[in-house]
Amino acid sequence: MLASELGEPLAPVEYDRFADGETLVRVPLRDDRAVVVASTVSDTAHIELLQLQDAAASQTEEVITVLPYMGYARQDEAFEAGQPVSARAMARAISTGTDRVVTVNPHEDVVCDLFDVPCTTVDAAGRLAEPLPALDDPLFLSPDAGAIELAKAVQETYGAGETDFFEKIRHSDTKVEIRPSDADTADRDVVLVDDIIATGSTMSTAIEQLSGPARVFVTCVHPMLAGAARTKLATAGVDSVYGTDTIERAVSAVSAAPAIAEEL
Ligand code: R5P
Repeated sequence: MLASELGEPLAPVEYDRFADGETLVRVPLRDDRAVVVASTVSDTAHIELLQLQDAAASQTEEVITVLPYMGYARQDEAFEAGQPVSARAMARAISTGTDRVVTVNPHEDVVCDLFDVPCTTVDAAGRLAEPLPALDDPLFLSPDAGAIELAKAVQETYGAGETDFFEKIRHSDTKVEIRPSDADTADRDVVLVDDIIATGSTMSTAIEQLSGPARVFVTCVHPMLAGAARTKLATAGVDSVYGTDTIERAVSAVSAAPAIAEEL
């Protein structure tokens, strides 16, 4: 998708796995610049990215790394004594094989400062308004204050409605407490907006705080949807879930590629 947006050829990558579990990639390149695209959704994806960068660097003048989704970005500080800043560790490793990094809606923009090479961010949140149906008196809500700008971006692109946010307190990776906002949700179409849905705990707990909404739509830039997240959302009463293709899932209704292509 990104290659076609850029009008550049798509390099064929071969992936192998040895009997001992190690992975190996192979990518023959012909151009002066290589754009390595990797959503680092797993540890294997991180390893493959480092290998692709290394293979690209030995064949081209310039390597640009695009991280549609950057894994480990949420561990952007040591929340408890003895923990690593995982985002920094990943950013340092990724920096060694590239001239530049582009990433889409990272959990916090400051993650860019962790790279040793120039890093820029792309905002794909506005596109989440596109798959929404016609809404009645819509309220665009973020489950915490940090995601209010994403809710505003979706509301602005949609062109109608109000925005508000909940207050969220996280107790563990699967348990969150959400305090309701003052906004009236009765008989209104509610669109919840966040950067990522991982376990679905945040969104399903947020939905429990809504009082008598007409319909509930859940949108996010990165639809990780780990484990039973999709079922959790359905049980909570969601009408539809929409995400971008930074992580390719059944709910990936819009592409971040045009926004990335514009940045490149
Ligand atoms: C955290 O602040 C993020 O913005 C998301 O709200 C969070 O990562 C979602 O995770 P989960 O779906 O596991 O609650």
